[in-house]
Parts: sequence; C-alpha cells; structure tokens
Amino acid sequence: MARVRVRAPGKINLVLHVGPPEASGYHDLVTVFQAVDVWETVTAEDALEFSLTVAGDVVLDEIPVDGNNLVLQAARAVASATGHTGSARLHIDKKVPVGGGMAGGSADAAAALVAVDALWQTNLSHDQMRSIAATLGSDVPFCLEGYTQVGRGRGHLLERVESEPFFWVAVPQPLHLSTPLVYQTLDNLRGELAPALPADPSQGLLDALVAGDAGALAGELVNDLAAPALSLAPQLQGVLDYGQQCGAVAGMISGSGPTCVFLTEDPDHQTHLLEKFLAEGHTAVRASSPVRGAHRSDREVPY
Ligand code: C5P
Repeated sequence: MARVRVRAPGKINLVLHVGPPEASGYHDLVTVFQAVDVWETVTAEDALEFSLTVAGDVVLDEIPVDGNNLVLQAARAVASATGHTGSARLHIDKKVPVGGGMAGGSADAAAALVAVDALWQTNLSHDQMRSIAATLGSDVPFCLEGYTQVGRGRGHLLERVESEPFFWVAVPQPLHLSTPLVYQTLDNLRGELAPALPADPSQGLLDALVAGDAGALAGELVNDLAAPALSLAPQLQGVLDYGQQCGAVAGMISGSGPTCVFLTEDPDHQTHLLEKFLAEGHTAVRASSPVRGAHRSDREVPY
C-alpha cells in the first residue's frame, strides 16, 4: 500500500478581460493568473473503491463529496485515460476559501491528477495531464502549471511570464457568488456593448511584474467581473474601502469573487494589513506570489 501527497496553489487574476459569450456558454478571456502560496493538499491512497473526505480551516459546507467533486472526476479521468482499473481513497486538506474566486476546487483537481498518476504509476506526460486538466475546468491547467501565466481561450491556454514576488492579503467573504451567474450578470450589464478583447495584457503590467513594482502593478489591475460581482453583492464595496483606508496599495475582487485581495508593499506591510483586517473581525490570509504549480509534497510512504 502506498500514499501520495500533492499540493497545488490557489490563484488570483491580476487582469481579467472578458469577451462576449460564445455559443458554448463560455467567454473568451485574456487574463494574467498568479499562483499564491495558499495551498490545497490532496492525499491519495490505494483502496478498493473511490472515496473522498475533506477537512480544513475554511468553511466546508458547500463542498460536494460525491461524483460532483472535481477530485473524484480527476481521478476517474486519469483511470479512463490510462486504462488503470484500481481506485483510490482521496482526502483534501483545504486552505483556499471555498467558492471564493481563488480556484480552490481547480487546485484540488490539479493536485488529484498529479497524486493519482503517481500513486498508480500511470506516468502521464505533462501534455496528457494538461489536456485532462482542461476537461475538468477552465482554471485547472493553471493550477497544474502555477507561477505567472497569461491565460487565453477559456483561461486554459497558458503562456508563462516572469514576475518578481508580490505580497497580498486575501479576505474571504461569508457569502457565495455563483461563477456562471457573475458571468451572466456581466453579459446583462453590457447588453450588446461587450468591448473587444485586447490581444495581450498591457506592457505596463508585464513591466511592473518584472520590476516587482507594487505601485506600478496597482495601476494595471483590471477585473471585468468586478462590476457584476459588486452588483450582486454590494457589501463587497465596504471591504474594498476598508482595505484602502488601511493603506493597501490596491484592492480588487478576486476572479468572480467574492474574495477580495489587497496588494501590499512588502512582507511587513502585508503583516500590518493582515492584522488590520483580523482586528476588524474579518477572516484574512496572507497570500504571496508567484509560486509553483501542483507538486508532490512528500515522498511515497510505505506502511
Ligand atoms: O470551467 P469552469 O467549470 O470553471 O467554469 C464555470 C462557469 O464559469 C462556466 O460554466 C461558465 O458559466 C463560466 N465561465 C465562462 N467563461 C470562462 C470560464 C468560465 O463563462 N472562460
């Protein structure tokens, strides 16, 4: 018997440009993802049938532990792609806020792909793993790759860009925003007026990343999903305002929300802002970027 442990990062979108809806229901994106050191950990063990448990210090109520969970879907996708007939007992240890726009479920799926491939010794190539990841969800390929990547298509076509470290505070919210509803609200707000997607992220953004210049990065952050998220949950404005009052370099809604993320100058400023949010009774977590994608966080342990 063997056990494999893999961790994968949550993400923030530094820019998220959303095009008009496609016939598929998806929207073409030009986004820049950055992986943050808020980790999901998936453990996979040999077992006679598939099972899944979840633990963690985030609100766990909304997580399915049946076939709707991306971890089980990922494991079954590896089995079917490789012809492997075994099963696995899977466990998720969650740190990324659930349903918060930071890709926690996608990180679980990416970690599960790497974990069962190692457990079963099915030796998927990186390309095979990436293709399976794209079938599981738009953000899963990014959680596999990590670091800083321009995402196109549904967000699954990735191109790595360089970035110095940045220091964020993530403030999860006690409410849920459905991702499809946020996209649909954007379409409704825009009517026929969806702007054309830019071909690329701005040069100013890429320069700020390479320079590690938080002040310059602040002026480049864009999230087309912020307006629909705020129209569905206007109380998020108060959280953004509080971050600004406390001296954050910038604040934004993460992806489709509702988690709010705040950019700080450096690790000391990050600690200061974290304490300000905690003192006000918010949940808040330190999130530093960029970090690597899904990887083994153990050695295989025989027992
Ligand atoms: O790919 P994923 O399952 O994470 O997407 C969840 C939902 O988000 C989709 O069903 C769709 O409504 C919306 N979405 C979108 N365009 C994207 C990514 C997601 O409309 N590029």
